[in-house]
Amino acid sequence: MGYPTANIAAEDESRIPDDGVYFGWFTLADGDPPRGSLHAGTWLPALVSVGKNPTFDGRERTVEAYVLDFDEDLYGAHAITELTHLVRTQEQFNSIDELIVAMDGDKAAARTLMSQYPGRPQDS
Ligand SMILES: Cc1cc2nc3c(=O)[nH]c(=O)nc-3n(C[C@H](O)[C@H](O)[C@H](O)COP(=O)(O)O)c2cc1C
Repeated sequence: MGYPTANIAAEDESRIPDDGVYFGWFTLADGDPPRGSLHAGTWLPALVSVGKNPTFDGRERTVEAYVLDFDEDLYGAHAITELTHLVRTQEQFNSIDELIVAMDGDKAAARTLMSQYPGRPQDS
């Protein structure tokens, strides 16, 4: 679909927010080997989807991160995400095409937020 995601396993499930699509920041845990330009302490903007992926009749609640402008493999990485903005709620779409249109909209929203917040809030 053009939106490769890293599946996130939460260390502390109580810190997973309500289902939704969020904008936030993504980095690797200390000690994790670098992946391209990303290394521990470098924060990249990301869209994070939390929910059961109802478009696909998902049963399990997952946390998936799509890191913008990044195409390295994140398989097996230990990641840290900080979610700063709720973009929208998770929805059940009637087709994959509708989901892609929504994700394109999420990406546009992320670009607007990236221009407002050029870096992770605590860094500025
Ligand atoms: C930015 C973003 C928004 C998403 N929004 C929804 C959504 O509203 N509804 C939904 O069913 N799935 C949503 N998803 C999750 C996709 O269904 C999921 O990434 C896709 O099923 C691929 O899953 P897989 O990597 O397990 O194959 C979203 C994913 C991303 C990255």
